[in-house]
Amino acid sequence: MIIAPSLLAADFGRFAKDAGRISKSKADWLHLDIMDGHFVPNISFGPQVVKAVRPVTRMFFDVHLMCSKPEILLEPFKDAGANQLTIHVELGEQAVTQLLWKIKSMGLKVGLAVNPPTSIGLMRKHLEQIDTLLVMTVNPGFGGQSFIYETLPKIQQAAAWRRELNLGYRIEVDGGITFDTAVECARVGADTFVSGTALLKARGLAAAVKKMRTKVELASATLDNQLVLQPAPQP
Ligand code: DX5
Ligand code: ZN
Repeated sequence: MIIAPSLLAADFGRFAKDAGRISKSKADWLHLDIMDGHFVPNISFGPQVVKAVRPVTRMFFDVHLMCSKPEILLEPFKDAGANQLTIHVELGEQAVTQLLWKIKSMGLKVGLAVNPPTSIGLMRKHLEQIDTLLVMTVNPGFGGQSFIYETLPKIQQAAAWRRELNLGYRIEVDGGITFDTAVECARVGADTFVSGTALLKARGLAAAVKKMRTKVELASATLDNQLVLQPAPQP
């Protein structure tokens, strides 16, 4: 299970300090929300901020591009120290196919995200190319929003495809992830949990990361047991 605090919930006046705090919390990934004020109705930060926090930690940088023209940002984020770049399926099939190929050819991991109103079916043709499938559990653009429960079946579908096609992509959830909603997501197959408000606003960050990890590991083990007990499909 991967716990990925989001820097969007940090104090914007002390990004490096908060990135250091996250690094000490034993979380796995640092989630970096890039908003261009066009794909989403908000502007967050760019490659310069990512470059500024890179020397602070060796964590895996999970860069979430909520951008209408991510192609102009790929090299700057690679130079800034990104390990994974995630784009949105709403950019359209042709653009997505080219961008996934381009990001992989740069030697980076690649993620593909789907927004709540968008059909998970649009992800099917890209599954073999991705390292991470990101199910947005809120409409992107802001932290601190409430979890949208109607997104849970998408996580289940992503997990079913992964089993059926014997693929290895991670299933990431992002938006309104608290201790309780993280468990709901783990129960249906998620294994990577982005959380801003619930972790960074918690009294002790390291304790909150540990608590979330323990809860999702337990929930995920329950799912594995259920899958093992499922009767084999009849020929
Ligand atoms: C929203 C971002 C999320 C956000 C999560 O568009 O993609 O990563 O920062 O923040 P919380 O956990 O506060 O919903
Ligand atoms: Zn995000």
